[in-house]
Amino acid sequence: MKLFKKVMAVGLASTMVLSMAACGGAEKETTAAPATTAAETKAEETKAEETTAAEAAETTAAEVAAAAGDFDASNTTVGISIYKFDDNFMTLYRTELERYLVEELGFKKENITIQDGKGDQAEQSNQIDNFITSGVDVLILNLVQASSAPQITDKCKDAGIPVVYINREPDVDEEERWKAEGLQATYVGCDARQSGTFQGEEILETANKGDINGDGKVSYIMIQGDPENVDAQYRTEFSVKALTDAGMEVNELFKQRGDWDQAKGQQLTQDALTQFGEEVEVVFCNNDAMALGALQAIEAAGRKVNEDIYLVGVDALTEAVQNVLDGKMTGTVFNDHMAQAKAAADIAVQYLKGEAVEPVNMVDYRKVTPDNAQEVLDALK
Ligand code: BGC
Repeated sequence: MKLFKKVMAVGLASTMVLSMAACGGAEKETTAAPATTAAETKAEETKAEETTAAEAAETTAAEVAAAAGDFDASNTTVGISIYKFDDNFMTLYRTELERYLVEELGFKKENITIQDGKGDQAEQSNQIDNFITSGVDVLILNLVQASSAPQITDKCKDAGIPVVYINREPDVDEEERWKAEGLQATYVGCDARQSGTFQGEEILETANKGDINGDGKVSYIMIQGDPENVDAQYRTEFSVKALTDAGMEVNELFKQRGDWDQAKGQQLTQDALTQFGEEVEVVFCNNDAMALGALQAIEAAGRKVNEDIYLVGVDALTEAVQNVLDGKMTGTVFNDHMAQAKAAADIAVQYLKGEAVEPVNMVDYRKVTPDNAQEVLDALK
């Protein structure tokens, strides 16, 4: 696949040259000889740009077409880095990603390297550098810090390696840059605003719309993921917004970061219940791992979900969906790791075949309530 990568790099360079020349801002790599006048230099520059762009366009179209038939999954190498292995949801995701690449797309297991970023951006960046040096054909990256996407994308661009970011979304400016500069970088994920809204709706669908004690307001605690992560930000904001949009008054008693972690979810919920006791009507958790922890604290405090307290999470971990079925959680939201893994792998292949890819690719979330929990559970098996 080495030849192919080179072809893609050429394609990328020419796209950039063309787009830059089009807006009159193409940069020169070489400087003119000192004796030439500015006008001469300018004329030479323009000519050189036109030639380069035209030549590159010709070569690229042919090369990309040739390369399209060149894709062979069985000799293609993939570098995958997960922000940390010790994350329930990302463990499901990476297992499915590898299964899909091997079983459905024909990649060889030994050509897929999956590394653990261990929650440390410096460590993960080193791993990515090594992937680049070893010349993998495509990268699928779940960044520790989405804010490092610009530097990593530039390194991938220089090496001519397409990159598919998953799960932790880089910011809009960066995604727009990929499109504007014709970079082979893309994001596959879910719009976390939707999951937050679904959580709020699940509370609104209860008999008393979350106002268990009938005092005219919904008093809640919020257990957040990593607040740097847009999933945590949006779920926090939109779960509550769904309530206020529906005309409910809300009362935030407590909001703390649990970093997506079950043990932290348990500790924080325990702290909040100790501090606010019966006042707590709703426990919003940005993910299911923390909701499982929250449930332990709720049960330890002698409270009963769906009777004197509501509890919602996101992800649809098997255990959480079972809890919804058993009435121990009010609801969760299916963060479809199977559809996301499939999309990420399919898009990686699109790049390798020289096909165009959109900069942002979103998969839908799905509400999980007692009505459909069994169906979701069956789909997860
Ligand atoms: C999931 C969390 C997970 C996080 C990792 C989120 O989309 O809901 O469970 O910990 O991604 O970035």
